[in-house]
Amino acid sequence: MYANAPAAAPVTLRTLAAKKAAGEKICALTAYDASFASLFDTCDVDVLLVGDSLGNVVQGRDTTIPVTVDHIVYHAMCVARGARRCLRIGDMPFASYPDPATGFANAARMMVEGDCAMVKLEGAGHVIDVIRYLSDRDVAVCAHLGLTPQSVHKLGGYRVQGREEAAAKRLREDALAAQDAGAQMLVMEMVPAALAAEVTQSLRIPTIGIGAGVDCDGQILVCYDLLGITPGKRPRFARNFLRGNDTLEAAVRAYVAAVRDKSFPSAAETY
Ligand code: KIV
Repeated sequence: MYANAPAAAPVTLRTLAAKKAAGEKICALTAYDASFASLFDTCDVDVLLVGDSLGNVVQGRDTTIPVTVDHIVYHAMCVARGARRCLRIGDMPFASYPDPATGFANAARMMVEGDCAMVKLEGAGHVIDVIRYLSDRDVAVCAHLGLTPQSVHKLGGYRVQGREEAAAKRLREDALAAQDAGAQMLVMEMVPAALAAEVTQSLRIPTIGIGAGVDCDGQILVCYDLLGITPGKRPRFARNFLRGNDTLEAAVRAYVAAVRDKSFPSAAETY
């Protein structure tokens, strides 16, 4: 049943660009298996990220660092069988893009074996060269700035990024550099809302926020956060949409509606 043709037109990067241009919010979720992916597809979610957060929520690890390319490819294959309409992004795990050629080989696995339409890479610096190399070779790339969980040890914990002016300036510059290198989407994680709004205004490409305020072009949540089953401490931006809804489908539809009508995230869920 998972191999059915999509009932609605598949979401592409052109669809998302049109949403940004029209001021319509983009709705994204993480997904790791066919059944949830199929539910999210049915509920009109635009984008599914096979995130390396699977290290935390599926594998029970403390960080995303032990996640491998094989893990993401396996889960991406499962998600692809469940969701044919949503745009599917494969997360490039820690140490899978130390240089452009290695990054390309691993991105190709995401696309060929994992059936992903796009790959996501954390950080700037040498990553900008990897983005350019991939983009020049027909890989659609999503950049990820702000809190980059693969750098958790270097950052000294999961903390809001870009509060000080020097860090805010770096984030603005990195976002433009990623776009200039060919990135076609940008995820911003745990960034002050005012900074994320400014970056969103300055870019042609859509921005997707997680803990980055309501003015990003779209929102993403780890699906287990949306369902209130986050292991450990719940981040401020993680609303439990199952509360007040009696089915998983109702909870997902409530999330989609709240993103689209801009009632999620609220000020209290923002930095
Ligand atoms: O791995 C993941 O789930 C992510 C999102 C938090 C954006 O990178």
